[in-house]
Amino acid sequence: MDTPASLGLPSSCDILVFGGSGDLALHKLLPALYHLHRENRLPADTRIFALARSQRDNASYLALAERNCRAQVARSDFSAEAWRSFAQRVEYVAMDASQSADFGRVAKALKRTEGRVLVHYLATAPSLFAPIAQNLKIAGLAGPLARIVLEKPLGHSLESAVTINQAIGEVFDESRVFRIDHYLGKETVQNLMALRFANTLFEPVWRNGHIDHVQITVSETLGVENRGSYYDHAGAMRDMVQNHLLQLLCLVTMEAPVRFDAEAVRNEKVKILQALGPISGQDVQDKTVRGQYTAGHIGGQEVPAYWFEKNVDNDSDTETFVAVQAEIDNWRWAGVPFYLRTGKRMAKKCSEIVIQFKPVPNSLIGNGAGAANRLWIRLQPEERISVQLMAKAPGKGMQLEPVELDLNLAQAFSTQKRRWDAYERLLLDVIEGDSTLFMRRDEVEAAWSWVDPIIKGWHEHYLSPRPYPAGSNGPEQAQTLLELQGRRWLE
Ligand code: BG6
Repeated sequence: MDTPASLGLPSSCDILVFGGSGDLALHKLLPALYHLHRENRLPADTRIFALARSQRDNASYLALAERNCRAQVARSDFSAEAWRSFAQRVEYVAMDASQSADFGRVAKALKRTEGRVLVHYLATAPSLFAPIAQNLKIAGLAGPLARIVLEKPLGHSLESAVTINQAIGEVFDESRVFRIDHYLGKETVQNLMALRFANTLFEPVWRNGHIDHVQITVSETLGVENRGSYYDHAGAMRDMVQNHLLQLLCLVTMEAPVRFDAEAVRNEKVKILQALGPISGQDVQDKTVRGQYTAGHIGGQEVPAYWFEKNVDNDSDTETFVAVQAEIDNWRWAGVPFYLRTGKRMAKKCSEIVIQFKPVPNSLIGNGAGAANRLWIRLQPEERISVQLMAKAPGKGMQLEPVELDLNLAQAFSTQKRRWDAYERLLLDVIEGDSTLFMRRDEVEAAWSWVDPIIKGWHEHYLSPRPYPAGSNGPEQAQTLLELQGRRWLE
């Protein structure tokens, strides 16, 4: 599985966005490409083709794209002039991705000349990945300069992921397959690697001898919005845990790679995924909690139960919340519980990682043994790293109180320009051919191998999701999961 390091920015590039009128393309990909264009970071000769089924002309597509872009991009970053020049790069092509014949038309519309990098971005359902790859090959659009980007979740299970990977592998060699997990494109997520591998401070204590447990939370206040038909078949386990949460877990726990390149970094991540202790049978009941939101309040507004969301079955038992206690069976981490938690319609939007160190062995002073003593890494919406320590409160006696050493990364780098969105960084990496921040085939399959038995266990044991009111911290059972072990979620 040899992957070349970044090949550098080419001089010309064609980007084909399949699913060009979907949410992902309109809300994330086109705004990201707009930013890259405006800041002159795209190859000068870049063309963007948006492909989708509906019959519409270029002008109406561009109007739709502009409306969405204006809504996504900060007002200060949107200029009519930049949009006009960006729009000249964009062409809409109506086509049906399941019809081979349509690919011939696409190839014609491209009027490709030699030497242009070709990026196929599949912002479609995973069931279309294999047929699109095959059709690209038939239409002569899968040559050595062509790359394919696959959105997560890749498949629905290990079996379907293997089938997709195999079919893609027949057309594109691994170095040209970019399985995207946009969390890896976030600055703060990359900062996890900087924190661990550019400082020696933490390394000696980054192990089971010193760490009591780790919490990883990704909570959202949003519901399923207009993605009900996708989400109701996926659920939080496939939508978030299989990819984003496990990737965060890898970055927190992997060994230092021998080099900072695609193969070395991914070699270390996959070792963690392969070392995850399997959760099946009785463990599924003891170590996991699924939840589903009922009606409640978010920011003072009443919001409906999951059942009443658009395109969701009204007796759906899809989970919108998962908490799971994971373990990593290797020398560094054996015995340390990793509590992963994610949910929609929770009390607040936040992604954070808490490393809880062990309490002092012998409480010599005051009242504070076991408290604080933790590293708190906030990924979003704030970008902060804080060390929570115990300190003596001023005054008589040894009264201890928790205090924070607090680093606000946004302030520390405040002189720098606008923060890039994850998709900007990742799109540029694809154009440059650098797959360090993308998931390799064996990573995705190892993640499914761990997730599949949990999902199977839920069904075998009829473990329906536990209700939790929108705007809360999830079902009570998630609190109990930790309380039974003398711990609590740190909010
Ligand atoms: C996506 C999921 O991958 O990540 C969504 O499909 C989720 O359901 C989103 O809302 C969260 O991303 P972010 O960047 O807002 O944390």
